[in-house]
Amino acid sequence: MVWTSHPVPQIAGTLRAPGDKSCSHRALILGGLAEGRSEITGLLEGDDVRRTGAVMAALGATLKQKGDGHWIIDGVGENGLSQPTKSLDFGNSGTGVRLMMGVLAGYGIVTELVGDDSLSARPMRRVMTPLEEMGVSFGGSNNDKLPLTQTGCARLKAITYTPPQASAQVKSCILLAGLRADGLTIVHESHLTRDHSERMLRAFGVEVITAPQGHGQSVSIRGGQVPIARDTTVPGDPSSAAFLAAAALLSPRGGVLIERVMSNATRDGFFRVAAEMGAQIGAEAQDEEAAGERLVDMSFETSPLKGIQVPDAIVPSMIDEFPILAVLAAFATGETRVTGAAELRVKESDRIDAVVDMLRVNGVEAEGTADGFVVQGCGGPVPGGGLVETRHDHRIAMSALIMGTASRAPISVDDASMIATSYPDFFADMKELGADIREA
Ligand code: S3P
Repeated sequence: MVWTSHPVPQIAGTLRAPGDKSCSHRALILGGLAEGRSEITGLLEGDDVRRTGAVMAALGATLKQKGDGHWIIDGVGENGLSQPTKSLDFGNSGTGVRLMMGVLAGYGIVTELVGDDSLSARPMRRVMTPLEEMGVSFGGSNNDKLPLTQTGCARLKAITYTPPQASAQVKSCILLAGLRADGLTIVHESHLTRDHSERMLRAFGVEVITAPQGHGQSVSIRGGQVPIARDTTVPGDPSSAAFLAAAALLSPRGGVLIERVMSNATRDGFFRVAAEMGAQIGAEAQDEEAAGERLVDMSFETSPLKGIQVPDAIVPSMIDEFPILAVLAAFATGETRVTGAAELRVKESDRIDAVVDMLRVNGVEAEGTADGFVVQGCGGPVPGGGLVETRHDHRIAMSALIMGTASRAPISVDDASMIATSYPDFFADMKELGADIREA
């Protein structure tokens, strides 16, 4: 179904950021593993997170919805996970499947792991290698991609591992496996990636030791620890907030306040780069904390932007924000250059190709490289008028629709259904701010 975003004169209002997707997955996983009852509020109820909840339920945890984003979980605790009777379907979610592969590793159970077409095209070797070293085995005939059969190992070996790519999913998979391994599991990461697993494991009473190491850190976890239930509030998602922020910055009359956004240095690269490009951003720290994370209210106003060379070191802290950064770059004056971001090729789509096509079809000059892209900014509104191929990628769909709020001609996407994987209220929130996004 084609959706079209029509240019509007103003994007303004106050909204609460939806629950963070990464923290929501982790809250369901740790609540499901814990001894006792946890109450989770502010949970993102996107399709990706719901799948993780359904998988934890299939493995023996009890999850009950009490209200909007409000869930009660009785974890399996000392009893551990049980053999599921059906295959585990992760839908579109790389985070869900890779984290759960770590969770399942230490149990002598056999699981069939499946996902949608996009997920079944994404590499799983990056988690299979460390898990095999720990004692897990895999079967499958799709080149180390889903569908896979995973056979866990009740006597898992602890390992010391340095992931070749900067990936929080790989780190988290190994740490979750390490919970049940015999001895101390250590992950050396050469570049810091999002640290929600470390924070949330600690919140659930698990000892996790971190030590800085070069540009990254080492993270250690001793096996045999069972998480202890606790009540958790999920903080607002900075990645979803980035779309609302961009809409405000590009609008002729933009003024948006987003409440309760998670403030975490491993996630705020987009806001730092946008500020460097000239974005007017306000941030007011809140007293509250959520899931061991700090919260800020952030405000964004119409801002003329200039192109930038994005420093490689900042890439992991904005890895999901490159599609929307490319939209800012398209409106900016001058060139924007992204390097050191080859990981974009293995996201929900090949985001380098998808971004370049999204811009070109709307009259913006852009070029892909092996590990990034270059955008020649229009120094104002982009021409627009194009139909963007979303490739089943929620962030490409949202980026294109945001671009259409401030372009010269409307911008369409070929599909928008997958936006529900990460931001089910996107259309309602954008409408509230004054956007005109309609079917066909
Ligand atoms: C995530 C890690 C990142 C990110 C994804 C969520 C997580 O993936 O792109 O949206 O919750 O750990 P990688 O670990 O593959 O970089």
